[in-house]
Amino acid sequence: MIHGGALWERGRPPEVKDFSVNLNPLGTPAFLEELIEEAVKRGVHKFYPDDYSSLKQVIAEVYGVDPGLVGVFNGATEAIRLLGKGFSVPEPNFVEYPRSSIYLAEEVGDSFRFPIRGEKVIISNPNNPTGAEASFNEVLSALQLGKEVVVDESFADIGLVKSFAKYVEEFPNLLVISTFTKSLSVPGLRIGFTLGAKSRELEVKAIPWRVNSIAYYVFSNVDPKEVRRFFAESRRKVEELLAIYSSKKLPGKAYRSRAPFFLWRTPCTSRDVVRYLLGKGYLVRDASNFIGLDSHYIRVALKDGFEDVIQFVLNLCENYQRVLKGSFKVLYR
Ligand SMILES: Cc1ncc(COP(=O)(O)O)c(C=O)c1O
Repeated sequence: MIHGGALWERGRPPEVKDFSVNLNPLGTPAFLEELIEEAVKRGVHKFYPDDYSSLKQVIAEVYGVDPGLVGVFNGATEAIRLLGKGFSVPEPNFVEYPRSSIYLAEEVGDSFRFPIRGEKVIISNPNNPTGAEASFNEVLSALQLGKEVVVDESFADIGLVKSFAKYVEEFPNLLVISTFTKSLSVPGLRIGFTLGAKSRELEVKAIPWRVNSIAYYVFSNVDPKEVRRFFAESRRKVEELLAIYSSKKLPGKAYRSRAPFFLWRTPCTSRDVVRYLLGKGYLVRDASNFIGLDSHYIRVALKDGFEDVIQFVLNLCENYQRVLKGSFKVLYR
C-alpha cells in the first residue's frame, strides 16, 4: 500500500476504523454535505463545469490572496504531478513528490528539522509523515535568495503551523499547494489548488474539466467565512487531541506533532502492528516505506478513538516477545 487508506470492497466503501488516512477529526461539515445534496438535486452533473472563476474567487477569499494566483486541480496530487523536474526533497516526505534528488531531514530530539538545500525544493508544512512544522525563517531566507520553494500545506488548515499562503504575492518563487481533501474530509471529491505565480503554468499543462461539476458547484457556493470558522474550530479539536497524545508516555519513540496525525517508532515491527490492528478492526499507516524511516514506524491519524489504537499497540508490544515465541495466529486473532 503506497498511501494508506482502506480498500473498497466490491465497489462499496470499507468499514474498517481507518486511522491510516488523516482527515479532519470533526469530519465533513454539515454545510458542505448540504451543498453536495443540493448539487445532485439541481442536476449539476448534467453540465460541464465552466472556467472555474467562481471557484477561484472562493479559494482566494478563504486564503486572502489575489484570485489570479489561484490554480485549481483534481486534488493536490494533480498539481504535484504537474510540478516538473529538478526538485530536491528532504526526507521523509509525501511519496508523490517528483524527486530529482533527496536529502535526509535532521532528527532533533523528538522532532525533525527540514532544512532547505538546493535551488528548487519541495517541502510539506506540516510534514507528512512526521508532523513537524517547516522552519519559517529558513523558508523565508530561501525565498529571499531567489530559490524556488514549493510548500505543500495540505494539512496546514487543520494543523498548528504558520501558513506561507500570505507570502505568495510577495514571492513569485513560492508556490503553496493545498487541498480541501483533508481539511473538509472530502477525499472522494478530488479538489486541490495552488496559490502563487506558478499556478498559471501548471494549469496550462492540466486537462480541462479536471474539477468535476459537483465539486465545482459545492466549492463555488460555499461561504468562505464559514470555511474559515470551521478550520478554526478544527484546529482547536486537533490541539486537544495533540495534548492528549503528548501527555502519553509511549515506548519506542513518539514524535512531537503539529499535524492531525503522529509518527511512532514502536518496539514492534510496523508489519506486525498493522496486521494485529486489522484483526481488531483498525487500520494505521505502515510508515516503513517512507525514505529515511525503518520497519518499526507507524503513522496514526488523530481523531476520536486514537487512544484505543494506542492501547492495542501497547498490548501487542507488551506481549510481543511472548507471542513471537508462539505462532502468528495467536498474535493476530
Ligand atoms: C502531504 C500531502 N499532500 C497532498 C496529498 C494529496 O491530496 P489530494 O487528496 O488533494 O490529492 C496528501 C494525501 O495524503 C498528502 O499527505
